[in-house]
Amino acid sequence: MRIVVLAGGRSSERQVSWVTGKACKRALEDLGHQVKLIDPEVDLPLRLWQEREAGCDFVWIALHGPGGEDGVVQGMLDWLGLPYQGSGRLASALAMDKLVSKQIFQTEGIPTPEWIAWDNQAPLPWAECVAALGSPLVIKPSNEGSTVGISIVEDEPSFTQGLQLARSVSSRILLERYIPGKEITLSILSGQILPAIEIIPAQGSFYDYEAKYAPGGSRHIIPCSLSPAGLARCEAAGLRAYQALGCEGLARVDLRVDAAENPWVLEVNTLPGMTPTSLCPDAAAALGWTFTELVERMLQEALQ
Ligand code: DAL
Ligand code: MG
Repeated sequence: MRIVVLAGGRSSERQVSWVTGKACKRALEDLGHQVKLIDPEVDLPLRLWQEREAGCDFVWIALHGPGGEDGVVQGMLDWLGLPYQGSGRLASALAMDKLVSKQIFQTEGIPTPEWIAWDNQAPLPWAECVAALGSPLVIKPSNEGSTVGISIVEDEPSFTQGLQLARSVSSRILLERYIPGKEITLSILSGQILPAIEIIPAQGSFYDYEAKYAPGGSRHIIPCSLSPAGLARCEAAGLRAYQALGCEGLARVDLRVDAAENPWVLEVNTLPGMTPTSLCPDAAAALGWTFTELVERMLQEALQ
């Protein structure tokens, strides 16, 4: 097939996307496809139309964050009639927005940590937030990835700083109860749950950008240390979150698991990282799949 890989883009995860894109390009070439890498610019609709006219059969989206993972590109490809891997435009848009995702989880009875939405306008007193959510609490931009703009705060000065940081990347912000316990992630490929990974950041207790992408920044524990019953609850919640948002193909559900081994769904990533330090390739490896096999399965699922 003739495949265009979209990588780079304009979000704060641009660098991560390049690494994902190059790794996927190599795998698709190993599978015998003719692959071209494109960094989306403002002329992307025209470029894609030209590629379609020139015989492109499939677009592999390796973009992360707004403008790639949020349904914008998926909608463009739907318009052009070009197939792509992963979730469609609606699930992508829902999953990219943590506030909307959490409202859906709540409606569906999927456990998610309590939260307050902040539109960046009205004053937000620290004391009220602590009364509602406890301390420490987590401040997140609603629509970013790779932990960009996220802080865990436990006093008023760091709260003020955290809000400033979050609002520098988004006007939609959520404050979330911090769940002490384990960080668990579930890779799901078209409804099949891959082995759960427990994440232990090397520095401190926060799985931030550095911990995600610096070699040795975190340890991925497979199998995770949950009991069989705890793991089953985690998998059930993760799968329900994937289904509630209408995800397709590969997605990764990030959760916290408390001391009683109750799962709390944080978010769903519809274009999870595929870099050498990323989680999904490790979960696939635990099943004995190489990176190229994972890419092949993702492609097969998309073509069905
Ligand atoms: N947002 C990054 C790429 C991830 O979830 O893996
Ligand atoms: Mg994310």
